[in-house]
Amino acid sequence: MNQVAATAARQQADVPFTIRQVGPTFGAEVRGMPIHGDVVPELLGEFISALHRYRVLIVPGLELDPADLVAFSRRFGPLEIHSRFENTLPAHREVFCVGNVERDGMKASFNRGVEQWHADSSYRRTPSDASLFYAEIVPGEGGDTLFADATSAWRTLEPAMRRRVEGLYAVHSLETLRQWGARHNPERAAGVDHQPEAFPPVRQPLVRSHPATGAKSLYVCPAVISHIEGIGAEESAMLIETLIMHVTQARFVYCHRWRKGDLVIWDNRAVLHTASLFDHTRYQRLMYRTTVAGGAPALAD
Ligand SMILES: [Fe+2]
Repeated sequence: MNQVAATAARQQADVPFTIRQVGPTFGAEVRGMPIHGDVVPELLGEFISALHRYRVLIVPGLELDPADLVAFSRRFGPLEIHSRFENTLPAHREVFCVGNVERDGMKASFNRGVEQWHADSSYRRTPSDASLFYAEIVPGEGGDTLFADATSAWRTLEPAMRRRVEGLYAVHSLETLRQWGARHNPERAAGVDHQPEAFPPVRQPLVRSHPATGAKSLYVCPAVISHIEGIGAEESAMLIETLIMHVTQARFVYCHRWRKGDLVIWDNRAVLHTASLFDHTRYQRLMYRTTVAGGAPALAD
């Protein structure tokens, strides 16, 4: 939807929500967006326009159950079922659970060690367009989610580096992720089946163009990328390191400190994210994630 159409729709729909930017170059808090029940198409279009503009939207103060989250998420398109089936809710397989809680046949995906910057499901041939993350149980401290504005990072990249990386492809591999996990988080890797046979390595551009906005961004997921095509392993690793250092500078990063009832939706085609640790011996954490499959019509324009 273009700007004129969006403004007209906003007037027609009498848009009830407000938007306030919270990150340095991106990220906005939305208040007043109806999440439950029917949402008129114009209002949903306005929300999606805001997502395209701010790349990360935070809707605080909600009381969602998993069915609510699934219903709202489906407004954007079909949802993925996560490759780690054991971490999904038995009654709602679209909901991937993250944290250190185990109950009712669900065992949340617990990461005791470091994580890495990534966009969700880059190992799929058509990666996810967007993810929604809802805070069910929040630890007293830690467990933040950090977002990096890969779009602004591209805009500010040195021209020589732009010429060097545009047109290159990186190979994203679950086997690479498994090996990375075994090195950095051995306790987690030991019990995890990532189904590498179901998701063979795929090539993704290092510089991607957003289908709705046309904006380019850097698509760099160090733990998942086995190599960059056409260059040597050492040069490939150095280039990935150089790019991720650029994208994750403080001027491009927004750190979200969760409150119970926060819903955050981010555009996997425009930002990277990672998590911070929390003291799992003192606190519980439970987050519900839904993942909008790639090629979602509602998010394409
Ligand atoms: Fe993620």
